[in-house]
Amino acid sequence: MSYVDDYKRSMSDFEGFWRDQASSIEWFTQPETIFSDGRWFVDGELNTSWLALDYHVQNGRADQDALIYDSPVTQTKRRYTYQELLDAVSQAAGALARAGVVKGDRVVIYMPMVPEAVIAMLACARLGAIHSVVFGGFAAPELASRIDDAEPRLLITASCGIEFDRVIPYKPLVDDALGLSGHNVERVVYLLREQCEISLSGREVSWSEFVEGATPADALPVAATDTLYILYTSGTTGRPKGVVRDHGGHAVALRYSMSLVYGVRPGDVFWSASDVGWVVGHSYIVYAPLLTGCTTILFEGKPVRTPDAGAFWRIISDYGVNIFFTAPTAFRAVRKEDPDAMLLKDYTLCSLRTLFLAGERTDPSTYEWLVDILGVPVVDHWWQTETGWPIASSPIGAETLPMKSGSASFPMPGFDVRILGADHQEQARGTEGDVVIRLPLPPGCLPTVWRDHERFDASYTRHHPGFYHTGDGGYFDEDGYLFIMGRTDDVINVAGHRLSTGEMEEIVAAHPAVAECAVIGIEDADKGQVPVGLTVLKDGVNIDHATLQSELVAMVRAQVGGIANFKRSLVVQRLPKTRSGKILRQVMRKIVDDQAYEPPATIDDPAILDEIRTRLVDEGVGLIALRSE
Ligand code: COA
Ligand code: AMP
Repeated sequence: MSYVDDYKRSMSDFEGFWRDQASSIEWFTQPETIFSDGRWFVDGELNTSWLALDYHVQNGRADQDALIYDSPVTQTKRRYTYQELLDAVSQAAGALARAGVVKGDRVVIYMPMVPEAVIAMLACARLGAIHSVVFGGFAAPELASRIDDAEPRLLITASCGIEFDRVIPYKPLVDDALGLSGHNVERVVYLLREQCEISLSGREVSWSEFVEGATPADALPVAATDTLYILYTSGTTGRPKGVVRDHGGHAVALRYSMSLVYGVRPGDVFWSASDVGWVVGHSYIVYAPLLTGCTTILFEGKPVRTPDAGAFWRIISDYGVNIFFTAPTAFRAVRKEDPDAMLLKDYTLCSLRTLFLAGERTDPSTYEWLVDILGVPVVDHWWQTETGWPIASSPIGAETLPMKSGSASFPMPGFDVRILGADHQEQARGTEGDVVIRLPLPPGCLPTVWRDHERFDASYTRHHPGFYHTGDGGYFDEDGYLFIMGRTDDVINVAGHRLSTGEMEEIVAAHPAVAECAVIGIEDADKGQVPVGLTVLKDGVNIDHATLQSELVAMVRAQVGGIANFKRSLVVQRLPKTRSGKILRQVMRKIVDDQAYEPPATIDDPAILDEIRTRLVDEGVGLIALRSE
């Protein structure tokens, strides 16, 4: 396999290239039409759950571990062979069918990191039902808005999640969400966990009762273009976007990524320390490892304090992990607790071949630390919920090219990445601009937004005609390495979690004392970025700033969740605006990000910028990297 050859062919003969890749999976009906009208493999038929389970059982992997569940927070370890996982999934699919779920129905899964979450996902896929997993850290209104948009027949959840040693009861959240939602969910299935007992009534049923006695269901052949799942992600407003993933392109792209990007072979142990609620969890905890015949690890815990900062090393050593993938923020947390990696000495990491990092830019200091302590290639690679697999990486499965700290290396085959200026012109090497991808996007990427194709166009294809708009800014250096410098829109990355500042603004603006506001992301040494609210008070309102801050913090926590890490707000007299009254968020971000900030001429009163800067410092927002001060 040659990266350069693959890349060139994916550009010059994209249908031929992807036809060849499609032959790496077993179809029920082989596709003849490779690409038509924006969709991949349109006349192919397959089933993703069959490919992930039955195929391997029939091809000699029945007794190999498919999934290892390691949960330090509940002191539980459990292994599922491919045969056992297939049995559990077939029975759960039978239970869904018994409950009336048919192809095309939606099922929302709001669960912590437990095997039943994976089983429920694969059970939906088996029937051609569409799952929509909601991250367990989201608050009730977030769950409600996803239920409203997806209109599921069923909601599958658990009695609680566990954060370190804290039990998070889910039932109150679920009850609130169902109360807020305008959609009527027929049944709510609860996995009852011993850490939190609840009583059930009406439409509620326990997971064990739900699956008990169900007749195992076979995998249903579906069209390659049928929807496998909807995964909501933050956009620029409070309404999350339902990213649609289809069966065919997804399976082909993930199989290809496992061999080219990750250098994985069937039988390898692949561990992605993320959460099934995020795209990384969908692609690289569940689908890609299982489609490839690997053993995947489901870790219910954190990198630190479970029980210490050696949790990552323990798992790699205990299970012989070959490929490890996590977010840089997780390693920043480990390094903070154990800067000299003393805990590493207790473990043998000889199985580990490569470490992959994504979710946010890897800061050079964390990168160098990891290279030093691990002695294996450390690959920063870049992608998004929308693409489902890496846009740029080092192609570890083909060749080990030199890496540059701070860069996500090179575009992967199928992704024609360009850097465009505001005038739609391509930027010279070294010059920053919008990072875009020439259409069509390769298989695996979103074909549309759930039931809102207009939003797909508005969000992704209109900024630069003919190109997919990633929302990231960046540049290619002289050697062709891609550097992703951060979002250019109202999306921020907090501890590897993608959040919308626009949504937080809507919440802050609802406070009765607030006349107008802006929420901006500022650099943070641990979380990468954290949101800060800047508020202008209504005339005549007299509220203590500390009280206002604690009320706003509580509001954002109740409506988005603790993961927003919204902990600071500042009162300012005015917000910088254009002459037409548009708040200049980008400008405010630059205040804290730029070495030498030059206010643009469009601002009414440049002095306000100095005031905000002074206030940000005066109020002691200690974590802000105010490089200009
Ligand atoms: N359920 C309920 N609450 C949750 C939660 C969940 N699933 N996940 C996080 N929270 C809560 C935390 O308990 C914390 O609450 P607190 O403010 O009361 O302390 C708050 O949300 C903030 O969480 P976070 O910023 O994630 O901090 P943390 O200390 O809990 O964890 C990391 C730090 C680095 C381990 C974690 O952020 C992480 O794993 N990030 C990587 C994310 C990721 O995998 N992204 C995908 C790309 S690979
Ligand atoms: P998500 O959709 O949650 O996976 O978040 C995608 C966003 O995370 C991207 O648009 C980037 O802003 C950011 N991101 C992911 N990986 C990287 C990376 N390796 N370097 C820089 N930013 C990244």
